[in-house]
Amino acid sequence: MVTGGAGCIGTNLCRKLAELGAEKVVILDDLSSAYEWNIPKANNISFVNGSILDDEMLKRVYKEKPEYVFHLAAHFANQNSVDKPDEVKNHEILRD
Ligand SMILES: NC(=O)c1ccc[n+]([C@@H]2O[C@H](COP(=O)([O-])OP(=O)(O)OC[C@H]3O[C@@H](n4cnc5c(N)ncnc54)[C@H](O)[C@@H]3O)[C@@H](O)[C@H]2O)c1
Repeated sequence: MVTGGAGCIGTNLCRKLAELGAEKVVILDDLSSAYEWNIPKANNISFVNGSILDDEMLKRVYKEKPEYVFHLAAHFANQNSVDKPDEVKNHEILRD
């Protein structure tokens, strides 16, 4: 799973993971600073439009039992991450 996977680093990471043969790459991104058209297209990439701050959404994506989680969701390169750290906090691992 890649949170913020529709962003600059995330899209490149997802493309590479897919090329390297990852069984499934799940992107969780709320598109707050990204565009859906920028998400790489591949059979093993799926996109979930949602926020890491939404517990129900997190439970839904963790049901897929991701082996690895790359946490890239952030308000990057602006003052928001500094002013509002709770909006981009790391989330708890919800796996069993
Ligand atoms: N770009 C760089 O050169 C660089 C260098 C070093 C570290 N980083 C770090 O890598 C991370 C990603 O950077 P980036 O350049 O890809 O930024 P980016 O803004 O392109 O991507 C961040 C993504 O997070 C998503 N997002 C924001 N809040 C979210 C939320 N609550 N739930 C789900 N998705 C949310 C945005 O829609 C966006 O797609 C950041 O932590 C940044 O500090 C980036």
